[in-house]
Parts: sequence; C-alpha cells; structure tokens
Amino acid sequence: MAFSVPSLVVLVMIFSSPISSFSCDLPQSLDVGTQETLTVLGQMGKISLLSCLKDRTDFRFPQEMVEASRVQKAQALSVVHEMLQQIFNLFYTEASSAVWNTTLLEQLLSGLHRQLEDLETCLLQEMGEEGSLLGMKDPTLAVRRYFQRILLYLQEKENSHCAWEVVRVEIIKALWTSSSSSLSSQLLG
Ligand SMILES: *[C@@H]1O[C@H](CO)[C@@H](O)[C@H](O)[C@H]1NC(C)=O
Repeated sequence: MAFSVPSLVVLVMIFSSPISSFSCDLPQSLDVGTQETLTVLGQMGKISLLSCLKDRTDFRFPQEMVEASRVQKAQALSVVHEMLQQIFNLFYTEASSAVWNTTLLEQLLSGLHRQLEDLETCLLQEMGEEGSLLGMKDPTLAVRRYFQRILLYLQEKENSHCAWEVVRVEIIKALWTSSSSSLSSQLLG
C-alpha cells in the first residue's frame, strides 16, 4: 500500500512555484527527524527480542551502496529519501497497524512524512543545481531490494509479533548505520 501524498507534493511544487523559493534546511531537519524516528521506534518495543532469537535473520543492509552514494549530494539525498519512504510504506500497512500501538505508529508515520517533505524540497533544489539523475546507476535500487527482503520475510513469518519485532530492531540499526555513515556527513557536513 503506497502513500501518494509525498509524490503529489513534489508535483504541486514543480508546477506551482519556482524551486528557489523553498528553503532547504536539511541538516537541522534530518538530524532532528532521525532522532525522533529512532525514539519512537524505541518506544514501540513491547516484547523482548530475547524471546524472538529464533526469528533473527540477516537482511543484508546495503552498506556499500549507501557509502558509495556520497559522491554526489543529489544521490545521497535520493538514497536517504528512498530509505525513509520505504520505512513509511512498511509501517503504513494493515499488518503493521495490527501489531503496533496506534498512537506511536501515527507519531512514527507523521514524523517520517514531514521528513520526506523536507527531503523532497532539498532534492528538487539539488537536482536543479547538479542536473538530473539521468544516466547514473539508480542508487536507490539496493535500498529497494533490501526492503523487498524485509517484506518477503514478514510474509513468510505471517506477520508474527516476533517477525515485526525483528524488523523494528533492523530498521533502528539501518537508520542508525546510515545516519552515522559518511552518507550523512556528506549531507550534514
Ligand atoms: C500506546 O502508547 C501510548 C504512548 O506511549 C500509551 O500512552 C498508550 O497507553 C499505549 N496504548 C496501548 C494500548 O498500549
């Protein structure tokens, strides 16, 4: 179930206003947003991961891709955007709302949505400056494959509470890794 508001926002921005009229306050927004997301994801834990050890698996986070994308700021931005969009899609599902506390889930989704909007503003600005991403190897492909593995895993585990707990911890790790990697130093530095 995809959420179409972010792409709609991009379209509205493209067709209604000059890009330069938007502020791109990324460092602040990304840093605060990631902290908030990590906090809410932390609060969502309710069963001990210890009881779910048998369900652990290696989702193979695409670390190299995330590192490699720092060559160009627009690439780095599009990787972060894809990560957050995929996290949003993952948790914006019936299966997710059946497992997680509604209040915290809404808090998580609205925070991610806000970050995605900020990123889209910056991405448009950056692509305006650097030219389009055409002709480059799509840097978001590895991220999408990673989330496909997560979705497949949840399906195979029939969305069990343990499976979602494993996924929650995985997303915390992924966010933590990408926010402490050179990807974000590229964006924040
Ligand atoms: C959901 O989380 C909120 C905030 O932590 C808490 O106040 C509420 O009691 C929780 N609801 C359930 C049903 O656990």
